[in-house]
Amino acid sequence: MSRATYQLEVMHGVNLDQLGRRDPLLYGTLTLPELEGRVAERAAGLDMRVRFFQTNHEGAFVERLHALGGETDALLLNPGSWTHYAWAIRDALEIAGVPALEIHLSDVDAREPWRRRSVIGDLCFARIAGRGPGGYDEALDALREHLDARQT
Ligand code: DQA
Repeated sequence: MSRATYQLEVMHGVNLDQLGRRDPLLYGTLTLPELEGRVAERAAGLDMRVRFFQTNHEGAFVERLHALGGETDALLLNPGSWTHYAWAIRDALEIAGVPALEIHLSDVDAREPWRRRSVIGDLCFARIAGRGPGGYDEALDALREHLDARQT
């Protein structure tokens, strides 16, 4: 039996377009296009088609989530600091109703206390944080596995 090809949406939120200029000890040295290139390559090896989205505007992030229904099989999202307080993004993720994995480059639990809260955490089937760009590889593997398990 040939394996299914899935459509994946990778969404980055506020300030993540500034990767490469942000603290390399926390976020590494890759720019967002470099990170996306790496994700695209790994996704292709897993038979996943991937589409990328980034914005610094919360409403645009919400509207992208609204548009996802039926367009994507799963979502990999790093909303940046919105993760910690943006309840409108949480509501929109719930509306989107697609399997989602929360990812962060830095170890949010080991930083300032306000970063420990995630308003989207309980809507996501997994969370990966503090593993840098390599965390995205783990996330893609986990998404592939999660989607395959839903098919059987
Ligand atoms: C981040 C962690 C957030 O706390 C921070 O506001 C970001 C990036 C990360 O990928 O480590 O902008 O989501």
